Amino acid sequence: MNTYQKNYKVQKRIVTRKNGEKVLLRSMETSDKSKLAEFLSKLSDKTRYFYQLDDYGDKSAEHLCSSLSNPEKKHFIIENNAKDIIALVKFSLDLPEKDRVRFAAYGIELKPGETSRCGTCVADAYQSSGIGSITLEQVINSSIELNQSIVMLSGGTVTENKKAVNTVQKFSFEIVGKYIDSYAQERLDMLYIIKE
Ligand SMILES: CC(C)(COP(=O)(O)OP(=O)(O)OC[C@H]1O[C@@H](n2cnc3c(N)ncnc32)[C@H](O)[C@@H]1OP(=O)(O)O)[C@@H](O)C(=O)NCCC(=O)NCCS
Repeated sequence: MNTYQKNYKVQKRIVTRKNGEKVLLRSMETSDKSKLAEFLSKLSDKTRYFYQLDDYGDKSAEHLCSSLSNPEKKHFIIENNAKDIIALVKFSLDLPEKDRVRFAAYGIELKPGETSRCGTCVADAYQSSGIGSITLEQVINSSIELNQSIVMLSGGTVTENKKAVNTVQKFSFEIVGKYIDSYAQERLDMLYIIKE
């Protein structure tokens, strides 16, 4: 990891929802812990079904914030005017061995240092208003800036999660395989190729 990659943060900027509301996209900070816990605790059962975590409160918020000390973690959030978090984007430059092995079984060799990973969760009241698309655009642009070759949808997406599948396919992510996760759900693995 070079110094540029190490120090990189997504640029703070105002983005616009489909209804015209302006919201702020910025890097996650360790001081976001309590706001993250609140965001997670309010997610509906349906959203939790598609965005599986072992905990939807302090524990996950603590884990996310403490992970920021790792320069490979570039997580970012979107917040509304009231400064409530309305979207969480886990964005990482590391490549877990289990992912590398799963993709190798599809015949795809993912290389550490060249593969970024992302996973988005939008608050229920803000879904289908353009936020997920804005975050994916940011992930792709940041991955290009960070000289990555491939963007992986971290852990893939539950096959029946049409909204997520439509969102990533809109950005030309390709389905490269499927597997059954630890919650017995079928998931699609999807990749966006920046350069071969
Ligand atoms: C999946 C998710 C990230 C998508 O973000 P979003 O802000 O809701 O999506 P957007 O408004 O940007 O819409 C993106 C595309 O999804 C599709 N879409 C939007 N709403 C949809 C719906 N209700 N049903 C089917 N497709 C839908 C459209 O193709 C849309 O693009 P378009 O508006 O240009 O036609 C978000 O809904 C979410 O966080 N869901 C719960 C958790 C989750 O599933 N996370 C992803 C795990 S992989």
